[in-house]
Formats: sequence, C-alpha cells, structure tokens
Amino acid sequence: MLFVTPEYNRSVPGVLKNALDVGSRPYGKSAWNGKPTAVVSVSPGAIGGFGANHALRQSFVFLNMPALQQPEAYIGNSARLFNDKGDLVDESTRDFMGKFLHAFAAWIERNAPAG
Ligand SMILES: Cc1cc2nc3c(=O)[nH]c(=O)nc-3n(C[C@H](O)[C@H](O)[C@H](O)COP(=O)(O)O)c2cc1C
Repeated sequence: MLFVTPEYNRSVPGVLKNALDVGSRPYGKSAWNGKPTAVVSVSPGAIGGFGANHALRQSFVFLNMPALQQPEAYIGNSARLFNDKGDLVDESTRDFMGKFLHAFAAWIERNAPAG
C-alpha cells in the first residue's frame, strides 16, 4: 500500500486519516493488517511534508503495517517539478522516485503476508 500525501498543518489531511480509520474496522478485520507500506509526502514548501509523513507512520504501528524505512521520500518545492500538463519533468526527482519504487518493490517481496 503506497501512500502519497500532502501535508495539512504539519499532519495528514483529515480525509486520509478517515480512510485509514474506516479501513481498520470492524475491529479484528482491518483491511490494512500486515500489508507492506511506504509513504511519499509532497509539498510546495521546502520541508517536503515531513510532518505528514511521520504522522502517518505513527498509525502504521497500531495498524500492523510494515513500513519502508529507507529511502525516505519528502518531495519539496513540488510546484517546480511538474510541467503544465502535470508531468514530472525534474530529472533528479524522477531518478529518485525510480530508486524509491524499486526499494519498495523489494520491501513488498520481503514482507508480503504468506498466501
Ligand atoms: C488546511 C491546509 C493546511 C496546510 N498545511 C500545510 C502544511 O502544514 N505544510 C505544507 O507543506 N503545506 C500545507 N498546505 C498546503 C498543501 O500541502 C497543498 O495545498 C497541497 O499540496 C495541495 O493539495 P490540496 O489541493 O488537497 O489542498 C496546507 C493546505 C491546507 C488547505
């Protein structure tokens, strides 16, 4: 489960938190249980959504979701990285995201629940 999120007031947007909470019930039948996960936070600011990224990681502990630790993905200054059509045109960010997704694919292989 890959989460790509903006940051609201140094935390996750309420709609994303609601989605996590709804998916976690009924108790004992959480849709998230055991699913390998990773976070990409994105922001037009310089900090790259660090607060949202780590707030989300706090929920992963209770939801029992093994979260990719490295590399971390804080994508800052996002307005400069895309063209008018919404394509990611910044080469170093494209390169980084490729490496990030390869690491996540390996993480899924190592942590996917049996069966
Ligand atoms: C209520 C609110 C709080 C926000 N707080 C932050 C913040 O803490 N850090 C940040 O980098 N950007 C913040 N932003 C800017 C959002 O990251 C930016 O609006 C987002 O990338 C665009 O997504 P949206 O269309 O869902 O708002 C905030 C925006 C809103 C509306």
